Amino acid sequence: MQKEITITYDAFDRLEDLPIEDQKLLNVATQAANNAYAPYSKFHVGAAVLVENGDIVVGNNQENLAYPSGLCAERVAIFSASATHPNQKVTAIAITAFSEFFLTDNPVAPCGACRQVLIEYEIRDNQNIRCILRGSTGQIYVFRSIADLLPLQGKFLV
Ligand code: THU
Repeated sequence: MQKEITITYDAFDRLEDLPIEDQKLLNVATQAANNAYAPYSKFHVGAAVLVENGDIVVGNNQENLAYPSGLCAERVAIFSASATHPNQKVTAIAITAFSEFFLTDNPVAPCGACRQVLIEYEIRDNQNIRCILRGSTGQIYVFRSIADLLPLQGKFLV
């Protein structure tokens, strides 16, 4: 038997085509990217996490001379959101990035480790996390859930 997994997401050509809340979140993520500490990769990532009371918590990648000690923007943002808003469900995350070497003209998607971390909160809170992705230019993708980016993740949390 063959099975198929289908992922549906929305693609937008222009920022103005997005719902206003998504535009705002993406703009905050863009500002956050400007504050990344990325002297090694020179790839500056920004993330903005929206929690249910309307607060936005930002993150950006933080690098280190000892490479594995750094952390991605998405995890900085969602860990900070969980630390500062422990009783607020996360409803959305916007992610963007620019490089000092090349144009990011495709949506920047979270790495596998970040997807795993993000889905933890989605499952724990039984709350889909909307995921808004953009490069410096090009289309903007909006996924309805982290599960769409990490299929077959079981709901086996204690
Ligand atoms: N990075 C992120 O912050 N998020 C991603 O989704 C991909 C990678 C960071 C890690 C590292 O600081 C730099 O980008 C290059 O990989």
